[in-house]
Amino acid sequence: MSKLLRKQILEQGDIPNHIAIIMDGNGRWASSKNLPRISGHQEGINSVREIVQICGELEISHLTLYTFSSENWNRPKVEIKAIMKLLLRTINKEINNLNKNNVRLSIIGDLNDLPKDPQQAMIEGINKTKNNTGLNLILALSYGSRQELIMAFKRIANKVEKGKMKSEDISQEIITRELYTCDTPDPDLLIRTGGEHRISNFLLWQSAYTELYMTDSFWPDFREDQLLNAIIDYQNRQRRFGQTSEQVSE
Ligand code: IPE
Ligand code: IPE
Ligand code: MG
Repeated sequence: MSKLLRKQILEQGDIPNHIAIIMDGNGRWASSKNLPRISGHQEGINSVREIVQICGELEISHLTLYTFSSENWNRPKVEIKAIMKLLLRTINKEINNLNKNNVRLSIIGDLNDLPKDPQQAMIEGINKTKNNTGLNLILALSYGSRQELIMAFKRIANKVEKGKMKSEDISQEIITRELYTCDTPDPDLLIRTGGEHRISNFLLWQSAYTELYMTDSFWPDFREDQLLNAIIDYQNRQRRFGQTSEQVSE
């Protein structure tokens, strides 16, 4: 099955340059199997490994994974603690393999919010892989899009206050440049697993013209075939950016 899907994707040729994923449904996956929620997060790591590998093989440039939101700090302390522990264990276990596969790791979000150990492990991982030229794997950790925008607006306001720029010069480019994602093109395709139809404070500015793909699959069940089907769905769309269909197909 996946061989055929891959062939179809490569033949069509319009492969998304940047895929962003809201990896949702770990808890419900676990509940449906009468397992504790953390088993869902644990199993979700197997999906991450597989999706990263396939994105690398398809030569996708950027993959952004919503791993922990600013709002997820409001979860029960025991779950947060377990997730942070899992994060630390996973980065330590996977980093050499990511490096071997030429993956470059980066983070968006407020890394300072994380406990010391995972924070340190992430920084080491970023340093270790910084010269890699393959897939750019971006983990959104303690990330909230509104918080990111506030940070950007404050920086811009500060420049205006200091007379370094004029308020009338504020443009889309200026705002984009002050975001965590300043070096990354906007996502072409945003996938949300777990059946919800919402953005949950993820890349609000950046996904202004992103194609959305929502699926009922829980994240731990989202594997190669599911990703390939999402890409095929994307390839069958026409991105119009405000223009008419006729203009775009000219
Ligand atoms: C997503 O799965 C993982 C994180 C938000 C860390 P959830 O934990 O939100 O799973 P559900 O939505 O409760 O099923
Ligand atoms: C979004 O999932 C955040 C991540 C996947 C990291 P949530 O489960 O936190 O989203 P809501 O609360 O249902 O909107
Ligand atoms: Mg959820």
